[in-house]
This record gives sequence, C-alpha cells and structure tokens, in this order.
Amino acid sequence: MARSWTPSSWQSLPAAQQPAWPQRPELDRALSQVNSFPPLVFAGEARSLQASLAQVVAGNAFLLQAGDCAESFDEFSANNIREKLRVILQMAVVLTYSMGVPVVKVGRMAGQFAKPRSSDTEMIGDLSIASFRGYIVNDPAATIEARTPNPERLVQAYHQSASTLNLLRAFTKGGFADLNRVHEWTQEFVGSSPEGQRYESIASEIERALQFMRACGVDTENNPSLHQVDVYTSHEALILEYEEALTRQDSLTGGWYDCSAHMLWIGERTRQLDGAHIEFLRGVGNPVGCKVGPGTSSDWVLELCQTLNPARIPGRLTLISRMGADNVEQELRPLLRAVHEAGHPVVWACDPMHGNTFTDPSGHKTRHFDSIIAEIAGFVRAHKAEGTWPGGIHIELTGEDVTECLGGADDLTSADLSTRYETVCDPRLNARQSLDLAFRVAELIRVSAGH
Ligand code: PEP
Ligand code: CO
Repeated sequence: MARSWTPSSWQSLPAAQQPAWPQRPELDRALSQVNSFPPLVFAGEARSLQASLAQVVAGNAFLLQAGDCAESFDEFSANNIREKLRVILQMAVVLTYSMGVPVVKVGRMAGQFAKPRSSDTEMIGDLSIASFRGYIVNDPAATIEARTPNPERLVQAYHQSASTLNLLRAFTKGGFADLNRVHEWTQEFVGSSPEGQRYESIASEIERALQFMRACGVDTENNPSLHQVDVYTSHEALILEYEEALTRQDSLTGGWYDCSAHMLWIGERTRQLDGAHIEFLRGVGNPVGCKVGPGTSSDWVLELCQTLNPARIPGRLTLISRMGADNVEQELRPLLRAVHEAGHPVVWACDPMHGNTFTDPSGHKTRHFDSIIAEIAGFVRAHKAEGTWPGGIHIELTGEDVTECLGGADDLTSADLSTRYETVCDPRLNARQSLDLAFRVAELIRVSAGH
C-alpha cells in the first residue's frame, strides 16, 4: 500500500462510532485549542515502551495493561488514581516475582475517555436519547441535554489527562513505587483477605531479598530500578479529531507521534481495514494495539499486521484477543499459527473482559470472575499448543472495593451487585479480584511453561 499518510488522511475514509457533534464552529475551536497545547507524552517515551514490548514479543517479558473501562470526569481525584496504581503495582509484583520476567505496565489511564457503543440511542422510559459515549463526548445522566455531545469536553479531557499523568509520574518516580514500600501498596480491605495474605508473604520475601543484597554490599540505594517504575499510558484511539490534534512531528526522527498517550489501540467496532481508525494509526510511530474478536479470519489478521506494521518492527503491534471464554481456544489457534508462520512479530495479549459480559437478572451489566479466568486459561492453552508466547493481559479494574463483577474470593452474587456498582461503563474487577487474578495468571503461565 503506497498511499501517502498525513495526520488528517483518515478524514477521507469512513469513521465508525463518531459522535454527532452538533456545532462545527465550537468543535473547531476546541480542536484548535487542543492542538495548541503541549504534548502529553514524548516520542522518546513511546519508543521506550516499544522497546519493552519487543521484549514481550521475544518471550522475555509480560504485558500488564489495566485500568478503567472509561475514566470519569466526576470521579477524578488523587485518591482514585493512587488506588488504581496500587493495584497495578501489586499485580506487577506478583507477576514478576512468580514468573521471573519483567512486567511492562501500561495503564488504561490518563486519556481512556471515549466509548464505542452498540447502539446510537437508548430508551429511557418512552424517551429515546443518545447513548453515553464517554466523558470526552457527553455526560451519562439520562437526559437529552446531558447526552448532547459537547466539544468543550475535548479540552477538559486533555486537562484531566495532563493532571492524571502528572500524578502518575510523581507516584512512580517520586518514592511511592519504591520497592522498599512494597508492603504499603496493600489497602486495608485487601490486607486481611487470603490473596492479601499471599501478597504479604511475597512482599516479605522481597524485603528479605533487598536486605540480603545490602548485606552482601550491593548498593541498593543508588539503583533506580529498585526505586522507580515506568507506568505507561494508553487508551482506545476512538475520537480521531482529538487524536489528530495531539499528533506531532518528532524533532529527532521526523516521524509523527500521537502524543495523547504512549500506546493507542483500535477497538473491536472500529477495526475496518479500509476505515479511518486503521488509516490514522498506521501512520503514527507509537506502539499500537488492535482488538481481535470472535469470527476473525487469519487472512484479516495478516492484512492487519501488514497494514499496521509493514516494516515488521517488534513491539510496534499488540493484538488483543477478546474471544469469550467458550471460544478462545478454537478461535485463537489458527490466528496464532498464521501470524507465526508469516513471521510477523506481535505481542499477543488476552482481554478476558469484553467477550464475557452479560446482563444479570438484576439488570446490571456484569462478568463472572470464573469466565474471566477461564478465558485466560484458554488463551494460555492455545499458545502452549501453538508454541507461541502468551504475552500479556488487558484488564478492566479499579482500586476501589466495588461490586461489579460476580464471583472471586468474596464470591459476589447477583444480590451483591447493587451494593457498590459504580462504573460508568463496563463492570470492573475490584482490588481483591484483581490481585487474585494476578496469582492465577502467574500460575497458569508457570504451569504451561512447565516450571
Ligand atoms: C474496551 O476495551 O473498553 C472495549 C470497548 O473493548 P472492545 O473494543 O474489545 O469491545
Ligand atoms: Co470496556
């Protein structure tokens, strides 16, 4: 494909899932504001993430991509961000310690605001109103006014992303993520639970290992990898005008980077090969992802790889499989084989959330913890059978003690869902369920690798 690419070349192609912005002048004003703002991330950081993902491709590292389904303008606080980071750090410790490989940490954070929807409208009583498309577009309140897309939200999304990223950088580089504080990442409600206790024992072993290193004369004080971590940001690149407004030319390489996040992905509903989303992401230098759902053919996947990563750069492309627990093994195996045989270097990650969503009799959209684990188990089995590396997981979670997904250590039931059902979009694992999941994933991969 020799078609030339520019940050706006997507505009001549059909773009699925775009909001019906009511006023063009207001939209243009908001976009030119965003365009005049500083980049949120730098090209060099995106390249570092790509280099780490190349290690995942090689089977030497594991990807943990996690965060909210949709970040909220209303639930925006330091507390909220810190709690989410805590869970991600805890999961990463469990995975690193148990699997013995580095964990590449990528948040669905600092920009995960836009949501694709299966229907443009929803019925509230007799009234048909526009669907909620994420805070970057409209407000979830069930009124016509709240649901009208408002371009001012693009500007607010930028500012909230900047503040979130600022805090993430402070937490990860400024002491909070120091391995000497590994015990402090446990929250009260997790600490007393069985998975909390299991975490505590790993934390104590890490503490002893650090003491041992110091006793042997290793300078642990001045080794930054013990005191800081890299947590990268990512979101679904859905609202292409916003992404274009943050796309900048790197002065070092001359390449274009989407500086709204380190990594961007294309969702299940916007992955048309001749569509605007793939066109946009094929031209930016960031590492990119694409969801791969049930019914996907090998030919399609190979064409996707060729379009998004023609130069076959390891770490550039992550394929995020979201097949559903029942289908994953049979759906995935031919795809793993085809990509492997074609020699395309990809990260294979498992999103065990989006293929396992259903509406509970109580009316809540939910997922069962057991189906989530079952999908990861099937994903790992498929890789084992094909001789490929189950490179990572892609999870919707929160640091709060919510009741949105069924099952888990607390064995949440249908009757529990309404206790703390707070998500503005899909149901998320709470902190205990997330930690439990990390232990299970580490075990599944260890067993599969024959360790
Ligand atoms: C999501 O990741 O929140 C999402 C909407 O996923 P998918 O595109 O796989 O349905
Ligand atoms: Co979701």
